[in-house]
Amino acid sequence: MMKDKFAITVVLIACLFGCKEYKREASTLIATENKVETKQELIDRVFLFSEKQYDLLINNISNEKPLLQPRGVTKDNSVRLVPYQDWTSGFFPGSLWYIYKHNQKNEWKANAIKFTNILESAKYITNSHDVGFMLDCSYGNAYSIANDTLSKHVIVKGATSLITRYRPKIGVLQSWDTTPNMGWISKRGWDTPVIIDNMMNLELLYKAFEFTNDSTFYKVASNHALTTLNNHFREDYSSFHVVDYNNKTGNVRSKQTAQGYSDSSSWARGQAWGLYGFTQTYENTKDQVFLDQAKNIAHYIMENEKIPNDLIPYWDYDAPGIPNEPRDASAAAVTASALLSLQHYVPEEKEAMIVYAEKIIRRLSSNDYLADLGSNQGFLLKHSVGNIHTGEENDEPLNYADYYFLEALIKWQEVN
Ligand code: GLY
Repeated sequence: MMKDKFAITVVLIACLFGCKEYKREASTLIATENKVETKQELIDRVFLFSEKQYDLLINNISNEKPLLQPRGVTKDNSVRLVPYQDWTSGFFPGSLWYIYKHNQKNEWKANAIKFTNILESAKYITNSHDVGFMLDCSYGNAYSIANDTLSKHVIVKGATSLITRYRPKIGVLQSWDTTPNMGWISKRGWDTPVIIDNMMNLELLYKAFEFTNDSTFYKVASNHALTTLNNHFREDYSSFHVVDYNNKTGNVRSKQTAQGYSDSSSWARGQAWGLYGFTQTYENTKDQVFLDQAKNIAHYIMENEKIPNDLIPYWDYDAPGIPNEPRDASAAAVTASALLSLQHYVPEEKEAMIVYAEKIIRRLSSNDYLADLGSNQGFLLKHSVGNIHTGEENDEPLNYADYYFLEALIKWQEVN
């Protein structure tokens, strides 16, 4: 048994050093006394840490009335709490479901249920595409992890709300409203803006199709993916952040950025959303065009010399002050999770994708990114960037970095 474990570790290390098609130094392995932490040791360590850290976070916020979701930190260094309408409201309950999936302890199931239930009203939201993030990470996980069949109703209702944003002349779901109450978004002069992030919200529609057999959900999701594939990508498979359409003619008005450095730059999380979104769309449709797109995006990311050797990107690949720019752990976590799904469908690149994801996971699990117990306002990962232009959430913890990190660990555990 010990011999087997040793052999597996040797193969793993050989692969990490040997799979040099995507040239990276394996400098981030956690080695103590010449011993590399095994995959299982790392996963158990991080999940145990997550239990302790989130226990502190939950105790810190549970007395708030009403109960709200922890998103990140405020300017005065307390936990930033948000209501169900916030785009990030589903990630914390989603992370609690992943902890429960790992430890199978009833108290964590109870935590997950408690923070999921306060989101139910999100199913009525029609003024934001993010209802997909909100409900799929929370109720979607309740269904897939705990077989909570009552979640189906919430998902279908939420999907019904989401498709009110479908613009048939263009073939997309409108991401953001442009009404005067939308702050900086209202000032950009957009007609029908669609952001690459929107790909992530299609999963809710595919689940609604699975539960109801109503093909409207499937068609809307697939049309959105196809229109995005046609208009959001440059020749090298990097992605624009925002494509604005004319709702009357269906034509593209402009291709720009909102959260990235410039219209022609590669906003790091946007590249990761595209990779994840097209992988997920392929899983739901089995349409080769979406698999090819996901593979091409993966190549763009994995071969990208602008990403540092430790594979945690700067918040924008083209940020002007590199190397003195913040990294974005959230983009790395989304990428790792997406690759661990994509590798199932790409036998010839399976190994390289797993190695790449593993390297991200090991780096995020190191002291440079994983918080010390009791610090980081109870969040797991340090060093993410929300929207650099708003001057908030830059180089800070964010609940979605934690969520996709835990998701990546769960998927990695399942890789043989
Ligand atoms: N809109 C989601 C994000 O900031 O990535």
